[in-house]
Amino acid sequence: MITYKNVGMKYDNNTILHDINLTINDEELFVLVGPSGSGKTTLLRMLNQLTVPTSGDVYFADKKIKDYDVQKLRLDMGYVLQDSSLFPNLNVEDNITIQLEQKGVSKAKRHQRAAELLESVELDPKKYAKRMPDELSGGQQQRVAIIRALATSPRLVLMDESFSALDPVLRRKSQDLVLKLHRKYKTMVVFVTHDMQEALRMGQRIAILNKGEIQQVGTPHDIMQHPANDFVRQFFGVKTPHWWSMDFLVDSGVLEKIEFHDDLIKIDKFDKLVNLLKSATSVDFQYQGKGYSLTVPQLLAYFEREGGNQ
Ligand SMILES: Nc1ncnc2c1ncn2[C@@H]1O[C@H](COP(=O)(O)OP(=O)(O)O)[C@@H](O)[C@H]1O
Ligand SMILES: [Mg+2]
Repeated sequence: MITYKNVGMKYDNNTILHDINLTINDEELFVLVGPSGSGKTTLLRMLNQLTVPTSGDVYFADKKIKDYDVQKLRLDMGYVLQDSSLFPNLNVEDNITIQLEQKGVSKAKRHQRAAELLESVELDPKKYAKRMPDELSGGQQQRVAIIRALATSPRLVLMDESFSALDPVLRRKSQDLVLKLHRKYKTMVVFVTHDMQEALRMGQRIAILNKGEIQQVGTPHDIMQHPANDFVRQFFGVKTPHWWSMDFLVDSGVLEKIEFHDDLIKIDKFDKLVNLLKSATSVDFQYQGKGYSLTVPQLLAYFEREGGNQ
């Protein structure tokens, strides 16, 4: 578990973060989202001691981050930046296993681990393990950067705008990859982005930051249904209070997420909606006690019409 307790950050007289209190749970995929300059990177870098708060403390597994040995701490954390930041002079396998080497893992075991990780992202180890980073496409480099961050089976993976430089298709694929790996390994991930669609798609919970202050913490559903203030409403472009508005469901890809986000699955209206969309034919649809028989296009029109009035 990570806990920020009354964390503040000042550079000279500039206060960058104000009294941050936040808990991130083990196994959680947690998103920090906010506009550029809101303090996301500063908050994230406090986790691997690249930045030390000027007030308050950050705890990792009940111990103050500042009391950890920096090197050990970082070997226990994966870190993925915007550019894949692979070492250009090391081949793919050596890039992936550099932290394992620092931990003293044997060459044979490193080789095996690299192969296993490459296979998990559909890069054939026989073909790719010995390539240099500049012999990979941008998307392949980013996949390698992601598995490199997982190589030591770290307790925590930090991702800072990791997909911001990718084109939309690759970006979505990379998001899917992280979601898949997170389901598989259950590693705690703190994911920073300025993109609200990405935040909604990725986060089990999301913290929204503006000018160094947390505006709201909640599930995508909480935030869309109950934005805490005007900033959140505007940032997420919440036109109506309905989290299930069609635009939102389609744009954010939530429909693809429901398979593994328990909090969304439990909502019965959402289930009905999903079934409707899956069958995409005329079905009975019960809404607020009234019976409706609607096709999907009619349903879309219905939400559009009713969405603003409730
Ligand atoms: N080393 C630094 N010295 C002075 N100001 C800084 C430093 N690092 C960040 N800042 C300022 O802190 C604010 C938050 O920065 P940052 O955490 O990088 O925001 P974000 O990642 O949300 O874009 C910005 O106004 C930035 O200029
Ligand atoms: Mg940043």
